[in-house]
Amino acid sequence: MRKPFVAGNWKMNKTGEEARLLVAELLPELQSITAVERAVCPPFPYLVSLSNMLAGTGIGLGAQNMHWEASGAFTGEVAPKMVAEFCQYVILGHSERRAYFFETDETVNKKVKAALAVGLTPILCVGETLAENEAGRTAEVVTRQTRLGLEGLTPEQAARVVIAYEPVWAIGTGRAATSEQAQAVHAGVVRPVLRELFGEPVAQAIRIQYGGSVNAKNAAELFSMPDIDGALVGGASLKAPDFIAIVKAAAARG
Ligand code: 13P
Repeated sequence: MRKPFVAGNWKMNKTGEEARLLVAELLPELQSITAVERAVCPPFPYLVSLSNMLAGTGIGLGAQNMHWEASGAFTGEVAPKMVAEFCQYVILGHSERRAYFFETDETVNKKVKAALAVGLTPILCVGETLAENEAGRTAEVVTRQTRLGLEGLTPEQAARVVIAYEPVWAIGTGRAATSEQAQAVHAGVVRPVLRELFGEPVAQAIRIQYGGSVNAKNAAELFSMPDIDGALVGGASLKAPDFIAIVKAAAARG
């Protein structure tokens, strides 16, 4: 059985004070829900103070990006070891990074390898745009992103990766994929690629989160699907009651 994993991608939101307040609100409710792996991924400047708040709580911390090089003249970038000093997770290849910051499957792959090398759990994001979806290219795009993102990994390394299927048309639109649509991609596209690359046991062990307009209302239905192993939550992770409800829905999965 794969342990459900719910992570909040705060994107570029919240002041430092608001960030600490949100974590303070989450802690009492989320600490006891150990059946679900749960994490928050705030902006870089808040990682240090939030790692102190989260120490020993069982709630993980993730960054939203990082560079693949260990150190050097890369102004404005953050190295894998810097992230690993405070975090357990790192979101890589988010569609916003691909679209606005020109990340490619090749650079995402370098980041996945660099994250694993320092002991971070990469959350590798894949997903098709609306145009690609309407052109019937979902399987092709998601297959390519998954395959190239994980290229060169051993099965042991791959087993430590989390995949987030985030159809771009569902992100921030209030128009989530239906549970059937997401399940079809998870079970029919992503997991078969994992099986082909790394074998059946590893393919079955890797968690595939769904992301894109997940909220307190639709989470339970999404989590009722056998291959939807949790969620990468954007907007709804900024409000404590909503994120708590989503984690509870994952805990009730059965
Ligand atoms: P929303 O939940 O706001 O649609 O964002 C999803 C997302 O991009 C998470 O990484």
